[in-house]
Amino acid sequence: MSVYQLRAAPGGWGGGGGAEEGRRHTPVMLEEVITYLDPRPGEHYIDGTLGNGGHATRLLETDSTIEVLGLDRDPLTLADTAARMAAYRPRLHTHRGTFDELGVALATLGWQPVAGILLDLGVSSMQLDQPARGFAFRTSGPLDMRMSAGDGPTAADLVATLDEQALAEIIWRYGEEPAARKIAAAIVEARAREPLTDTMALAELIEGVRPRRSGVHPATRTFQALRIAVNDELAQIDRFLEHALEWLAPGGRLVIIAYHSLEDRRIKRAFRNWARSCVCPPRLPQCVCDARAQVRLLRRRVVTPSEQEIASNRRARSARLRALEVLQ
Ligand SMILES: C[S@@+](CC[C@H](N)C(=O)[O-])C[C@H]1O[C@@H](n2cnc3c(N)ncnc32)[C@H](O)[C@@H]1O
Repeated sequence: MSVYQLRAAPGGWGGGGGAEEGRRHTPVMLEEVITYLDPRPGEHYIDGTLGNGGHATRLLETDSTIEVLGLDRDPLTLADTAARMAAYRPRLHTHRGTFDELGVALATLGWQPVAGILLDLGVSSMQLDQPARGFAFRTSGPLDMRMSAGDGPTAADLVATLDEQALAEIIWRYGEEPAARKIAAAIVEARAREPLTDTMALAELIEGVRPRRSGVHPATRTFQALRIAVNDELAQIDRFLEHALEWLAPGGRLVIIAYHSLEDRRIKRAFRNWARSCVCPPRLPQCVCDARAQVRLLRRRVVTPSEQEIASNRRARSARLRALEVLQ
């Protein structure tokens, strides 16, 4: 990981022929994020998934004394966003790396635990829209799917090397795809004829064995599964959650937006455990554990976007926001 140098601005949002050419990413639940982060003047905030900087920009604009550290594991996205947001220097700091390593970034800046952390999980519209990144199945492109371009095996590597059972396991576990075995078998049969290296070719293969039942493309779950596996996404969240409370000051706020149940389940479980004031087995007549709640849940139930937001931004439809405050 390295602290990024800001470079000259290449143009507007997602335009100008920069690395992130494509549709601008619309930040999801922008007002809700600000409401739950409740930014305070002079404080430090973390955007652990800076992306195209929509949330970070709004955060920086709430008060001219707030500083934000934005992390992103994608060097192309980070460089583009840092350049586009150069006007916010020196209040915006950027760091290329994963959010589970936030401790390293905080130490690099010499920051103490902070007043708020935001995670807006997954990939941005601009990553999705670039065929060369290999996330989208409606266009032809290399079967890549790495958020940190250049690091580790690609989706094509997994598809080429995993045995049928391991493929089925990934598609079932990370995609919750009922036809996982059928799809894995079809992949193994197809790759014996010729390598599967193209996004659309894989999507068409899946469509052949798993007919479309609803409006959702039959390849959606398999692509989600491969993306999660390639980027080790769930382990990233687990490692972040192990340390999150160390990185937040008393009174600090944590806001996380998840986009599918595999993500949201772990967040919900961690939040509920931290909020519990007793961890005794239910059969005990009285509490003997001396445990105390570490956080206060800002909303007991998950927060979802308004119908109006979903109508104007389809990506928002699966968003689930959870928020907490660390107790003093
Ligand atoms: C949904 S987008 C964030 C969009 C952002 N909130 C905005 O307003 O533009 C998610 C971003 O997080 C990055 N990302 C995903 N997982 C990450 C991780 N474990 N660590 C750091 N960045 C990550 C992706 O590369 C992507 O740019």
